Amino acid sequence: MQYDSIRAIQWQGDRLLLLDQRKLPWEVTYLECRTAEQVADAIRDMVVRGAPAIGITAAYGVVLAAQQHYHESPANWQEAMRPDLDVLAASRPTAVNLFWALARMQQVMASNPAEPLVTLLKEAKSIHDEDIAANRRMGELGAALIEAKAGVLTHCNTGSLATGGFGTALGVIRQAWSEHRLNAVYADETRPWLQGARLTAWELVQDGIPVDLIVEGAAAALLRSGKVQWVIVGSDRIAANGDVANKIGTYSLAVNARHHGVKFMVVAPSTTVDMATPDGTAIPIETRNATEVLSLAGQPVAAKGAGAWNPVFDVTPAELIDAIVTERGVVLQPTREKMQAMMTQM
Ligand code: MRU
Repeated sequence: MQYDSIRAIQWQGDRLLLLDQRKLPWEVTYLECRTAEQVADAIRDMVVRGAPAIGITAAYGVVLAAQQHYHESPANWQEAMRPDLDVLAASRPTAVNLFWALARMQQVMASNPAEPLVTLLKEAKSIHDEDIAANRRMGELGAALIEAKAGVLTHCNTGSLATGGFGTALGVIRQAWSEHRLNAVYADETRPWLQGARLTAWELVQDGIPVDLIVEGAAAALLRSGKVQWVIVGSDRIAANGDVANKIGTYSLAVNARHHGVKFMVVAPSTTVDMATPDGTAIPIETRNATEVLSLAGQPVAAKGAGAWNPVFDVTPAELIDAIVTERGVVLQPTREKMQAMMTQM
């Protein structure tokens, strides 16, 4: 499809190539991974990021671990892989897609397939393909909610870079743009990693979709201006009651959107929904190093001696959300009962 040209995760022969997102938009380079440890490092260090992309990458990490241990110790390769699985699981805590993908790969291992390497690679590729298919479906469902000539604001990066391809919130924006529904696309720069400025803007420019960046502090004024009808974001974990964890700043946007009568849409595949987490208070929120706040692109920007608080996700309560869009359907004004019904339907 037009407006969808980027693929950040690529399996080639017996190795994994990851578009190095730390270097975008200045450099387009791929990092090669041959071991699960390299994959875990890449996830932790933000070479690859975004909940669905983290899950897919970890699944390929399991394939790399299996390749290594099946050759080194064919008799007990599954046992030998345990530390690799632990290292992958410890790479980032909030995106539940990571744990979902590892569990799915372990289920395949537990079935003792006759040709484990072929079967595990096939599974990782299915996880990857299913994610792209889910994104396309969510794109259609989410775009259908947007009235003609709307303006939208998005946060962080939820596009091809953050998923198998196409994107979640950015997939809805791609689809809505292709259907000529949008007047304007705004993106938050998204401090401290600048996923909006560096990644979302890069993706949209690559695909010929006009975008205007705003600093986070401009969001309330933009929402008040009448230029935006929907705030559209992704998620790292959606609790059973519809509370949503996403990039820090999302909660602030949801409060602001409600205050100004702007609608708020969360777009995420069902692999991001965690029915075992009862509500947002139980979602583990990653805190990263203070230096990420105290510097910008490696350059110190804060007064020497200042500290920083750097939680990288926040939780938006379900009552501030107008629509949760998954590939299984749309939940309007989410509640525990509606989430349960959506997750049990096929
Ligand atoms: O810290 P990041 O860049 O991994 O955070 C990513 C986000 O918060 C995204 O909004 C979320 O993972 C959804 S990606 C489709």
